[in-house]
Amino acid sequence: MMAEPLRMRISGRLYSGVVKPIYFKFDPEDVHNRLVSVGKVLGSNPITRGLTSMAFEYNNPALEQRIFGLHFRNPVGLSAGFDKNGDSARIMRSVGFGFTEIGSITAKPCAGNPGVRLKRLKEKRSILVHMGLNNRGAGLLHEQLMDRKPDIPTIISAAKTNCKETTNPDVGLEDYLFTVRTFRDIADVFELNISCPNAFGGQDFADPRLFERLAKGVNGLRLRQPVIVKLSPDLTKRNVDRIIEISARHGISGFVCTNLTKRHDEGEGGLSGKAVEGRANDLLSHVYKRNLEYRKRFVLIGVGGIFSAEDAYGKIKLGANLVELITGMIYQGPQLIGEINYGLAELLERDGYSNIGEAVGTAR
Ligand SMILES: Cc1cc2nc3c(=O)[nH]c(=O)nc-3n(C[C@H](O)[C@H](O)[C@H](O)COP(=O)(O)O)c2cc1C
Repeated sequence: MMAEPLRMRISGRLYSGVVKPIYFKFDPEDVHNRLVSVGKVLGSNPITRGLTSMAFEYNNPALEQRIFGLHFRNPVGLSAGFDKNGDSARIMRSVGFGFTEIGSITAKPCAGNPGVRLKRLKEKRSILVHMGLNNRGAGLLHEQLMDRKPDIPTIISAAKTNCKETTNPDVGLEDYLFTVRTFRDIADVFELNISCPNAFGGQDFADPRLFERLAKGVNGLRLRQPVIVKLSPDLTKRNVDRIIEISARHGISGFVCTNLTKRHDEGEGGLSGKAVEGRANDLLSHVYKRNLEYRKRFVLIGVGGIFSAEDAYGKIKLGANLVELITGMIYQGPQLIGEINYGLAELLERDGYSNIGEAVGTAR
């Protein structure tokens, strides 16, 4: 165990002292695209995948869980939006993730919103995101991902195409269903993103009546995969309770708490990172309380503001079975994933747990 922190400390220093000061001089979206391109190259052959693993991976049996009938070698995943087209999906295991998300993917290709779409808010340790669901569209992405499927559990995040037409509920519903149907041979889990803060028509499918149509429609596809729902931290608790109740009736298997928050005065877009952490944790805690009433039938994924093992452990203790991140990795570097897993193993040992599953929901 001794060698792990040293290897991670070196990569952490390298990132904060050399790589990040350079990256942070350039436009965030350009840097993001470059990182995804580097990930694509590194993920394309076994030698570079092996070298990346040597630098970043950390494994420990105490972190392994079986969820949805799938083996998660650790509870830390890449959240939706970093790898919208799945280009770098095959390197994510070597970076140390236990699972990954691709998307959000929409039925039609979409360029996203115009103008500057990513802004770093360094003091807030947050990113202002106004991307608007840019992706190549379900049809093309399905073809491309057929031979690029990652070797860790993969969640396909489905959203509806960001355009005026999908504000019509029938068109919007069919848009979601098209993506889900298209990926039914690739996805391990489907995630319905009903909480994008940057799309035409707002978060209309978070309205209980429309959500019920969506949940019913997806249930009608008789998928072999579980389906989970990504919630906005800005919903009222009443709205969330309705979504949970509808989910229980239509075969939804879990919730992701949460997407970006729109409650801020930084301009157009949603905030990630530390700016959303409080709200995300508040909603996670609320959903876990409801989950107890439903005899823990739902799997919960906690996301928003994870920058350390303690942050991840906090969400697990609030009731998350798994956690995800993006912003922490951008601010701290890719070694953060291994650091979190290493730190989680230490925290479990400190608290006398032999497996991560025993710590879930112990905060109350
Ligand atoms: C650049 C960027 C793009 C994102 N795009 C999506 C997206 O397409 N779909 C989605 O469900 N969430 C998206 N998100 C939200 C993240 O998945 C996550 O819920 C949020 O950023 C909070 O986690 P974090 O603080 O670890 O970044 C995006 C976030 C960022 C930073």
